[in-house]
Amino acid sequence: MTASKIVSMKNKEKIAMLTAYDFLSAKILSEVNIDIILVGDSLGQVFQGLTNTIPVKLEEIIYHCRAVRRGAPDAFIIADMPFLSYGITIEESVKNAGSCIKEGLANAVKIEGGLDMSETIKAMISIGIPVMGHIGLRPQLIHRFGRRIAGKTAEETEFLIEEAKTIEKAGAFSLVIEGTTEEAAKAITESISIPTIGIGAGRYTDGQVLVITDMLGMDKEEKFKHNKRYANLYRIIKKAVSNYVKEVKDGIFPGPEHSFHQE
Ligand code: KIV
Repeated sequence: MTASKIVSMKNKEKIAMLTAYDFLSAKILSEVNIDIILVGDSLGQVFQGLTNTIPVKLEEIIYHCRAVRRGAPDAFIIADMPFLSYGITIEESVKNAGSCIKEGLANAVKIEGGLDMSETIKAMISIGIPVMGHIGLRPQLIHRFGRRIAGKTAEETEFLIEEAKTIEKAGAFSLVIEGTTEEAAKAITESISIPTIGIGAGRYTDGQVLVITDMLGMDKEEKFKHNKRYANLYRIIKKAVSNYVKEVKDGIFPGPEHSFHQE
């Protein structure tokens, strides 16, 4: 998989993307030939227990990218650049994107932004780093806008289309649309020739992405309207670990089959 192959999937085949943060999950994703693995800064919430993605560090993304790469040696892996690792100076942004590729072993980077990031995107691409944009609800702007759904009016939709076109013109190979109305996401998708990957953006984007722990149902309760639980790992894991605790207490585990014996 390459960035150009992903571009060529538009209007031909839907693109399936999931996040992953660790070796074993990445291994499973590579076995089902997922199109893209995103090492998302959502790891701040679902791996580190933070309330938002703001404190996530570049070194942490790189660390998780390396683990994911070991599990999925041939997958197309995107490193999600965290807050302040880009956007201050272009030089520093490009250097940090380079570290995601060189040290994190990712194939591409994702940055949040539209009109504001076009020069940064161009500079990254000029040295050979494929870039995915991210518009709509931008978790790294949580302190400015909260988690507000975007594209509710014609004016907002026009603004998002302008952002998407700017990102495309800057050379990005793809674009995440997060938390927008379905109508806005459809209009954006039809206005650009690079693929859009939606999360909470309805049915008409060129691909979809979910956070792996959300779609596996690892949290006790569903927190998001946009998510679909394909499993209830919360229930499965809780049952397994409580059985283990009980068996240890009752002296059932380990059994003879788990024990080593002298010849
Ligand atoms: O960090 C993340 O997981 C993301 C996806 C929700 C697109 O940015």
